[in-house]
Amino acid sequence: MSDAVELPLCDARALEEGGRAWVWEVQEYGRPLRAFALRFGGQVRAYLNRCVHVPTEMDWQPGEFFDTDRRWIICSIHGATYEPADGRCVGGPCARGRLKPVAVAERDGQVYWYPSRDIQPPSADPAPAGTPP
Ligand code: FES
Repeated sequence: MSDAVELPLCDARALEEGGRAWVWEVQEYGRPLRAFALRFGGQVRAYLNRCVHVPTEMDWQPGEFFDTDRRWIICSIHGATYEPADGRCVGGPCARGRLKPVAVAERDGQVYWYPSRDIQPPSADPAPAGTPP
């Protein structure tokens, strides 16, 4: 990951085990949406905030994705349940789907995220046609 563009996301202390997620703006194929990062099993994980069942945001309060046991990511709309470690659907109407991951890393008390070909920061809009570089 050393060649990848690395963008600061949040202070690592902002992500408590099983706690509230850090939500931020991204774009996928140029369309704005949000992503979220949370801590589970000591590791920071991040996904697009988009349920596999219906493409809508999942948090039941801003940044709240965990169920009451702080074990699963649960969609507030119809209760699809996902494994926080890998985004895999484990129950409810998400079938064999999986949340789309966003690459993140934690280093020296800071969490970073890594844009990909598909997922970019909102400011990465291509310049309109006719605009000089
Ligand atoms: S929209 Fe998430 S379970 Fe239906």
